[in-house]
Amino acid sequence: MKAIILCAGKGTRLRPLTFTNAKQLIPVANKPVILYSIEKILAAGISEIGIIVNPENVSAFKETLGDGSDFGVHLTYIVQEEPKGLAHAVKLSEDFIGDDKFLMYLGDNMIQEDLSKFVNDFSKSDLNASILLTPVEDPSRFGIAIVDSGAIVKVVEKPKNPPSNLAIIGVYLFDHFIFEGIDNIQPSWRGELEITDAIQYLIDHDHKVQGHVVYGWWKDAGRPRDLIEANRRVLANVKNSRNLGTIDGGTSLEGPVVVEKGAEIVDSIIRGPTIIGEGALIINSYLGPYTSIGPKVTIENSEIENSILLENSTVRNVSVRIDSSIVGRNVTISNMEAKPKVHNLVVGDYSLIKLS
Ligand code: DAU
Repeated sequence: MKAIILCAGKGTRLRPLTFTNAKQLIPVANKPVILYSIEKILAAGISEIGIIVNPENVSAFKETLGDGSDFGVHLTYIVQEEPKGLAHAVKLSEDFIGDDKFLMYLGDNMIQEDLSKFVNDFSKSDLNASILLTPVEDPSRFGIAIVDSGAIVKVVEKPKNPPSNLAIIGVYLFDHFIFEGIDNIQPSWRGELEITDAIQYLIDHDHKVQGHVVYGWWKDAGRPRDLIEANRRVLANVKNSRNLGTIDGGTSLEGPVVVEKGAEIVDSIIRGPTIIGEGALIINSYLGPYTSIGPKVTIENSEIENSILLENSTVRNVSVRIDSSIVGRNVTISNMEAKPKVHNLVVGDYSLIKLS
């Protein structure tokens, strides 16, 4: 069986980070979101993976993932010129998929569930589709399914009045009939070819569509707060400290702290779970739990908690603790050294800054 991972959306809710990076390449616990998906797919026994990307991001994906061999998979890149919908992306993958059954995975999703049984059961069954579902509190944000004795009898995309609380979580198994469904649907009100409409076509034409409800942790990492929560969840699984860097005698570590190669920590308090990336420099600072510090980040005389800092950024002499924040690559945050005491900002489009 093959898999496709859909990564060609615009990522508007994660601007400005997505102006210079695809959302699936943003690191959570210092690892790009998409690698968590690739690992899940590989663990389910699938190593032939197509990645749907947009023309702007294709080179960044290739740079990060290459042909996949470093991660034990073989990757094929499929370019979707415009994000015309999930069903459109699947249609573009038809040649890559061939006649086989396949797994479709939304590249911004992070799930806890092991997919092996879900995939194995489907490959042996006569089902035409099997879809992961989970109960949610805010069903109008998702595709929603109505299930009767295990079979999905209706799906609806982001309903105003949700008929159930079972959300489609972005992991689907299909056979080739889905392409017939895609050929017979029209763009939705938001101008996209919706995979939910193609699924509804299968249901309406007496194909077997099964719902597979899971209860483990799952995150659609589409908004900043989702990334911060995902970061917290992943770091919560870090149970042991590891030090490949340099930690001086004036530093105290509490809980699991991972210090990567070449990182240096001086006179600081680091409270885990926290990960400090390669070549980072932490001086006279406090890093609170659930913080991911990217490679070559410098933090001096500052306090940071429950946050994600990306590569090559600097936080220096900031007097108020930074909390629940995402700092992009090559950013500098520092205090005003000279008078007048003002906020002096160079802020990109769609940035969000809250000052205390
Ligand atoms: O997160 C689960 C939800 O994902 C489901 O409940 C919905 O039924 C499903 O339609 C989808 O809704 P979203 O509005 O969250 O989808 P989004 O636009 O965020 O796209 C999901 C992934 O697919 C993301 O990694 C970008 C990629 N994508 C999206 C579009 C529209 C493509 O590769 N091509 C596209 O044309």
